[in-house]
Amino acid sequence: MSRERQLEPGIHSITFDCTGDPYDLGLFWSELLGRPLADDDKPGDPEALIADPDGGPRLLFVRVPEGKTAKNRIHFDLKPKGRTREEEVDRAIALGARVTNDLRRPDGGGWVTMEDPEGNEFCVERGELDPGPATDQQPLRLEEVTPDNVGAAIALKVRPDQERFVSPVAQSLAEAYPRPDTAWPRLVYDGDELVGFVMAFFDIRFDPENPDDRPRSGLWRLNIADGKQRRGYGRFAVEAVRDEIRRRGRTGLVTVTWAEGEGGPEPFYLGLGFRRTGEMSGDQIVGELDLDA
Ligand SMILES: CC(C)(COP(=O)(O)OP(=O)(O)OC[C@H]1O[C@@H](n2cnc3c(N)ncnc32)[C@H](O)[C@@H]1OP(=O)(O)O)[C@@H](O)C(=O)NCCC(=O)NCCS
Repeated sequence: MSRERQLEPGIHSITFDCTGDPYDLGLFWSELLGRPLADDDKPGDPEALIADPDGGPRLLFVRVPEGKTAKNRIHFDLKPKGRTREEEVDRAIALGARVTNDLRRPDGGGWVTMEDPEGNEFCVERGELDPGPATDQQPLRLEEVTPDNVGAAIALKVRPDQERFVSPVAQSLAEAYPRPDTAWPRLVYDGDELVGFVMAFFDIRFDPENPDDRPRSGLWRLNIADGKQRRGYGRFAVEAVRDEIRRRGRTGLVTVTWAEGEGGPEPFYLGLGFRRTGEMSGDQIVGELDLDA
């Protein structure tokens, strides 16, 4: 860990400005979050404090002369735990909050936008007890190519100087189209954002004329978008392909081929543990990684 990292600050408190009594606003949040106010806080004090028993930032309420003039640029999104979203919204209203926008969706998703007694915005999301689609979808995940995302997939571009190392997504999808059993194209999403494309191959013989050539599985294409590289997405895609190969159980190796050159993927693959087999596939280096390495 770098020295700079140790010097970075932690978040000690999240501070609310109050024109009314900080104790009253503190009490609202204390009851809503089920966390006590500090023992020595009393009505009329210039400050009130709620500590986080788990060691997270404290909530500090301080009296200021100026009023609130516009929507806050930072707010809490609350996720109900032991209650439904409806129950949590009703509870907040009973404590003095008001609803400003109801953005609940018929499928159970969405949220309710509210204001605390001083007008600070907060949202109540779908809770653990609410029915509906999972909102806890894995942020980093592979998705299939669908009519809804194929346009974005085709628009995904690597850095211009990397284009010689990988085919465009459209070409990969065209090559996958007649090979549904051996090509496995997938999109890499981080939350709602499309950050990459990976295409695996399964059970392909590189040299069908050679009876000793075993079927191989591995990475056919890997394109992490310009501006999204060096954030772990490439590693994630390789590991996802490795998991899929393991699941299919036909080989103990992940194979990949790459072209050498400045800006090419060789350091990436070698860094992940791939080793050169000494073979070439056309003008490409062949590399392999043990499934259990
Ligand atoms: C190669 C590529 C897929 C890497 O994706 P990425 O998302 O940037 O890689 P990650 O962030 O997951 O990096 C994983 C590790 O590899 C290292 N790495 C990535 N690219 C590297 C490079 N060019 N040189 C040295 N190390 C590199 C990272 O530093 C990281 O190491 P760490 O975990 O020790 O920090 C991406 O650069 C890309 O799409 N390139 C253009 C297309 C291409 O060449 N595809 C491969 C065709 S075979």
